[in-house]
Amino acid sequence: MKPKTRAASVAGVALAIVIGTAFAQFQSVNGPHRVKNRPANADKMKPPSNPPAFGDPLPALDAASLAAFAEGMSEFQSAEVAAGGLGPIFNGTSCLACHVEGALGGAGQTMVTRFGQRSKAGFDPLESLGGSLLQSQAIAPQVLEAVPPQANVVALRRTTPLFGAGLIEAISDASLLQAAKVAQPDGIRGRAALVTDIATGQTRVGRFGWKSQQATLLAFAGDAYLNEMGVTNRFFPTENAPNGNNALLAAYDLVADPEDVVDPTTGLGDIDRAANFMRYLAPPTPLRQTANAVVGSRVFTSIGCAACHTPTLLTGANPNPALANKPVALYSDLLLHDMGPLGDGIAQGAAGPTEMRTAPLWGLRVRVRYLHDGRAAKVSDAIVAHDGEGLAARKRFSALSATDQSALLEFLNTI
Ligand code: HEC
Ligand code: HEC
Repeated sequence: MKPKTRAASVAGVALAIVIGTAFAQFQSVNGPHRVKNRPANADKMKPPSNPPAFGDPLPALDAASLAAFAEGMSEFQSAEVAAGGLGPIFNGTSCLACHVEGALGGAGQTMVTRFGQRSKAGFDPLESLGGSLLQSQAIAPQVLEAVPPQANVVALRRTTPLFGAGLIEAISDASLLQAAKVAQPDGIRGRAALVTDIATGQTRVGRFGWKSQQATLLAFAGDAYLNEMGVTNRFFPTENAPNGNNALLAAYDLVADPEDVVDPTTGLGDIDRAANFMRYLAPPTPLRQTANAVVGSRVFTSIGCAACHTPTLLTGANPNPALANKPVALYSDLLLHDMGPLGDGIAQGAAGPTEMRTAPLWGLRVRVRYLHDGRAAKVSDAIVAHDGEGLAARKRFSALSATDQSALLEFLNTI
């Protein structure tokens, strides 16, 4: 492994000279007008329906927010190219590449790989070897990453949906901290994920990602631009070295960092535009509940699912009236729970290896596979895989009559 990497880096230097010359002509257009491939229809927004369909903006947005949504939607679909900053190592070329299920901004079957080393001393994300996130693609085969042999934990993570993300962002830290103080039945106790928000420097309650590892959409956008696409930005200015090899990085990192910069005329970078799209994306619209689904909703509460999958949270004060003091029917407490063997084994942000964020269940009907690694092909498979703090509720689900089980599943299909 080691000698092979070194040989590759020598070849890489030679190749880089060739690539470098080819790319030099693009350097002048890096920055506010970075080269990228925008799909022809990316700027065309279909008129939103009422109530909103998946992929529509929030209802009652003011004109400025609606324009920011449309501009962000176009950015979200744009494919990065090497000359504009893609890579050297990456997982996808656009946000759209992974966030597609149901509509633009949805979940997706694309999975990313996390790795690390677990020992008596705890979890080591193997940062010096390129961990914990693997980048599975590269602008040149010489820089392609592999899971290093030192890793003894390897976990897959499915793409999560972004519908209603602005409402989730607008839930106050105070309400999540308060919820974490309330002891639930079955010995369940959620933990608020305290993280440093890189966009503001403040300690905040994380709520995005399988580990509640980010608190704001701007921070997550900055993180995704760097870690999924290899585009450096003002919050994440340093490229990822392929499996930690800085010489190899130097040979292939040909666009000056940060690659995404703020456009002086608008005050926005690509990360801000993508964040605006997510912020103004409407939540899933619940379907009309059949009599059977109404029964299912009662079963959901009575067997203890709602202890973690809180049906509704409220947003706090917000400068944007479309986000202020709104109910958020997400079916999650956004807290971390010890899921025992269901946990993915990776420590990240404030979350330990067995802790996972309660997956929001809204919009479940447009998802194709379930749980963090997509192991469940059916909703019922996802439920019976619950473990740790979720074990008691799972046992009650398994003990239900077939009629009650199907009522519960019908209910989950409407939210
Ligand atoms: C290679 C696939 C891939 C690409 C490309 C990608 N994402 Fe993601 N996205 C994921 C995965 C996987 C997760 C879950 C990550 C986790 O928690 O470990 C995720 C989660 C998120 C979340 C958290 C949502 C939540 O509540 O869980 C946000 C926000 C997000 N992505 C934004 C973006 C943006 C913006 C872009 C484009 C800059 C982008 N993503 C590009 C795969 C991708
Ligand atoms: C202790 C808290 C807790 C309880 C109780 C709980 N869940 Fe979950 N649920 C979670 C967590 C955490 C996840 C994400 C786990 C993962 O993917 O690793 C999850 C995931 C899910 C998923 C998959 C969602 C997706 O997008 O992949 C479904 C469906 C689900 N739960 C339904 C239920 C039902 C129905 C019940 C009641 C029988 C229940 N849960 C009880 C915490 C809980």
